[in-house]
Amino acid sequence: MQIMHVGRIAHSANRTIPDAPIAPSAVRAAGQMWTDAQGMQPNDMPRALELAEIPGVIAEFAQATRNAMAAGFDGVELHAASGYLPNQFLSSSANRRTDAYGGSIENRIRFVVETLNAMIAAAGSSGKVGMKVSPGMKFNDINDEDPLPTFIALAKAIGPKKLAYLHVMRTGIGSETTLRAAYSGAFLVGGGFKKAEANQAIEEKRADAIVFGSTYLANPDLVKRFKNDSPLNAPDQATFYTPGAKGYTDYPALV
Ligand SMILES: Cc1cc2nc3c(=O)[nH]c(=O)nc-3n(C[C@H](O)[C@H](O)[C@H](O)COP(=O)(O)O)c2cc1C
Repeated sequence: MQIMHVGRIAHSANRTIPDAPIAPSAVRAAGQMWTDAQGMQPNDMPRALELAEIPGVIAEFAQATRNAMAAGFDGVELHAASGYLPNQFLSSSANRRTDAYGGSIENRIRFVVETLNAMIAAAGSSGKVGMKVSPGMKFNDINDEDPLPTFIALAKAIGPKKLAYLHVMRTGIGSETTLRAAYSGAFLVGGGFKKAEANQAIEEKRADAIVFGSTYLANPDLVKRFKNDSPLNAPDQATFYTPGAKGYTDYPALV
């Protein structure tokens, strides 16, 4: 079960409370988001979290972890990718704080490290907690000039925790190679893989496992299709991120 907090990627039409969304800093993310009520809308202006509020937000990740484990999940993943709250703390463009959670690399990784610690305590074991990152991804207005040093420091800081895995999304800046070397634990890579390239990456020890997103979405029996070298359904981008079952649970399985 992936656990996420959108932070500043929010719009009042999608919220049940009138307050501004929270973020590391009061920096609005350029771009628009989908709302069922009003169609595409610009992201709301967030307010900066007070220093004293941060432990409460981290406690929410711990509570979500306890809820997931109580519901029967084997483990949880911290979503520190794709420009959402943990990624906002990591980013020098979204995080303009001048306290212990902003500025230096050590300070910008603090929120993620403390959140992982809280989730590990809540799950009862670091082996039940994984994390996803997307260094260099500009989605949701993350614009770091030099993201790699931040993610190398993060990978080194969390290596000793022995997480279930670190999942690095391939974004074209070579971070999966750099972080493979910097990280001591189980290492997953995803982003645009096909079967042959995935097998080759594992054989060459560039990753311990490869993650499939849209290919799995379009092929509910992907493992069987890979085993049999069967043809694959193509994902339909027009139904990505849309409401309703279409494009989520209606792709055909092999008979
Ligand atoms: C419809 C859709 C929804 C997604 N939702 C999430 C999400 O909630 N969390 C996440 O980390 N990634 C999400 N992703 C991204 C995928 O996990 C994956 O990183 C991305 O699609 C790249 O892998 P691929 O090239 O194998 O599809 C989503 C992708 C799609 C197509």
